[in-house]
Parts: sequence; C-alpha cells; structure tokens
Amino acid sequence: MRYRSSDIYRRSCQVIPGGVNSPVRSCRAVGIEPLIAVSGRGDLIVDADGNEYIDYCGSWGALILGHAFPRVVEAAVRQVEMGSSFGIATPIEEALAAKVISLIPSIEKIRFVSSGTEATMTAIRLARGFTGRSKIVKFSGCYHGHSDALLTQAGSGAAFLNPQATSLGVTAAAIADTVTLPFNDETKVRELFAAKGSEIAAVILEPIPANMGLILPEPQFLSCLRKETEKAGALLIFDEVISGFRVGLRGAQGLYGIRPDLTCLGKIIGGGFPAAALGGKAEILDCLAPIGQVYQAGTLSGNPVAMAAGLAALEEIEKPGFYERLQDKTDRLLLPIEEAILEKNLNACIQKAGSMFTIFFGIRQALCREDLAAGDPKRFARFFCALFEKGIYIPPLQQEAWFVSTAHTNDHLDKTVEAVIESL
Ligand SMILES: Cc1ncc(COP(=O)(O)O)c(C=O)c1O
Repeated sequence: MRYRSSDIYRRSCQVIPGGVNSPVRSCRAVGIEPLIAVSGRGDLIVDADGNEYIDYCGSWGALILGHAFPRVVEAAVRQVEMGSSFGIATPIEEALAAKVISLIPSIEKIRFVSSGTEATMTAIRLARGFTGRSKIVKFSGCYHGHSDALLTQAGSGAAFLNPQATSLGVTAAAIADTVTLPFNDETKVRELFAAKGSEIAAVILEPIPANMGLILPEPQFLSCLRKETEKAGALLIFDEVISGFRVGLRGAQGLYGIRPDLTCLGKIIGGGFPAAALGGKAEILDCLAPIGQVYQAGTLSGNPVAMAAGLAALEEIEKPGFYERLQDKTDRLLLPIEEAILEKNLNACIQKAGSMFTIFFGIRQALCREDLAAGDPKRFARFFCALFEKGIYIPPLQQEAWFVSTAHTNDHLDKTVEAVIESL
C-alpha cells in the first residue's frame, strides 16, 4: 500500500515539475509512481507509508557505507553545531583536500564544488583556459551532468528522453565545439586526433561508464586516449564522479594504471551530502581564480558539513579490508544470479566493476551505447516492478548501475538473489 506516498506525489506534482527534483526519480521509465522516502538506515529505505525497501540505488552511488552511517552522521552533526556555512575558508576543507591528494596520485591540487555537474563544467572550462583551445571530445552514453556543452548524446535520464540529441534549450552554439564519439572506439579517436588534434582542449569520459548501464573500458582504449591527448597537447579528464572511491581507493585510474590530467569526483566524496570536486596537476589547477584567469566560484563550495561527512566517509573506506568486504558482498549477490542466467540460458547479461553492476536484458555483451539498441526496456520495467513489489528498490532505469554498500546484510543479499532469479 502506498496511499500516503501517492498523496504526497500528487501534491508534489502541483508544485514541482513532474513531482521530482531530478528526472529519473520519477520512475516514469518503469511506469510506477515514484518512491517517496522518509528515512534510511543501513541498506534500507523507509517510504512515507512505512514500507521498507532494500536499496540498490544508494543515492546513485554516494552511499557506499549505506544510509545514516553513524560515523558520518556524527561528523556532520558536530559540524552543524559549530556552524553549517560561512562562505569563508574552513580547516575541514584543507583536511579533505589533503586526504584526497594522499589517496589519488594524479591529484596535486583540488577545488571543491557542490555537484558533479559543476565539477565537469569547471573541468572543461579549465581545460579550455589552460590550453587556449575550444574543442571538447566526449563519448556517447557517458553522462557528465547537465551543463550545456556536455548535454549531447548523454546517458542517464537524458538518454531516456532522446538518445540521439540534446536537451531543448541547449543552443547549437553551446555544443558546436563538442565532438561525440562512440565509447571504446580507438579508430575513431585516432582519426579525430589526426584531423583536428591541435584544436582539442580535452577528452572527457567516464573511465568506467555507468550511465548507459555499466560498460567496461577496453584497457587499450584508455591508453590510446592517454597517448593521443599527450601527443596533441590536449588534457585527459576522467569523470570519476561514480567510479571514484567506488572501484577502489584510487578509482578507475588506479585500477587501469592511467594518470589523467584532471579528475572529477562527486557522490562518495561528500558522504551523502552535496559535495564534488575537480583535481589534478597543480599547474592546471592554479589557472583557477583567484590565482589564474579561469573563473569558478560557489556560495556553498567546500561546505563544511559536506566536507566533514566526506572526510568521515573516506576515513572509513580507507580502513584495511574495506573493499574486500564490499567485493565479498557483491559476489554473494551476483555469482548465483550469473549462474542462473547461464543455467537458464536467459537472454541477459551482467556487466560489473567492483560493487557496481547492471543486468542488461536482451543483450549478451555491450561495449558502447551503440550495442544497447537491442535492449529490452519493457522487460526491464516488468523486472523492476516485480522486485519493487518484493521490497527491493533498484535504479528505475535500465541504463543505470546498481550499487552495493557495506551496509547490505547477508540476509538482504540472499533475499535479493532469490527475488532476482524468480523475477528474471
Ligand atoms: C559520471 C557522472 N558525472 C557527473 C554527474 C553529475 O553529477 P551531479 O548529479 O552531482 O550534478 C553524474 C551524476 O550522476 C555522473 O554520474
């Protein structure tokens, strides 16, 4: 029963477009009214009617420790009591900056912002300012937030609206310098650099794309990007808003041994609060105002509550054995499901990286968005609803990743395995 939720949703629709403040939450792609969450603890969300759901959305990957993790809550509350915002530098910003720099070798300096969108938007402005060039290369199906220049052939909710184009309101001029290529296609990258290398300011990508469903990079694709950008004097920007601290302490760059010039971080870095960042080589970051001429600012940038929560989260995940524990939980969930897919010869596959994964329907393997045309969104919608009825909440769009946290209990993982196999 979701009477209260339904009532809240109906009233929300009168005052908020579509009743939600971010499109995918609306659950339109799966044909149900959205979940209305009132609280969360560990791996559970409680809705406005008191129903509990095992959560595999995890605030879109931010909650690697689960909901209301005590150490994160304590750190945030302590900071709120000391003042929640100053618009003035605070010691906690330096503490989180130093922590991130100690964990990710390619990051020598870092600037905190409030959202992943701001991080990527600033990264491309910085790349253009630093190189004095205009063109940006991105890949179809990668999502980098909703700034104009990057909102073309984007993944996540933007893909659901119109896979080939961009949003209404984004002018042709705004995307005139954005070149979009298929992911994992080295040949196209080489051709572009041969023709236009000297005009390219930066290549931006999700090194492990998670916004068209989880896609794995071919390792030689990433090294090709590193080589071509270096040769052309362009910057390589890893958007690790999702993969950062998710696939390991050093993110995708640690996993694949590639050193980008700039890295965008978000989600986990704020411990569930609004924080994101861009970091990289000091000589590039120092082009930002107030020392440099590339402008970026934010009233709530480096907000101390978000910084305190983020620092507490990072201190937790850097403890020895954290990622092994997370992997064990993910294996407990996925291995039996993968076995069932093989055994029943289902036309589906699981693509995974650490504790994030996607179950694709109607597809046996996907290396780029162009491989997803055969996907079956109707089957996904039925699958979503079957799990939802069993008290399991997964991201309500096929083109997204599920996230496992260390708060997922064995009991809930086993219950999920059973429900998924039954629903498949
Ligand atoms: C890879 C990636 N980059 C950027 C963003 C934008 O971040 P935000 O939603 O915080 O603006 C997202 C959001 O999901 C993302 O997944």
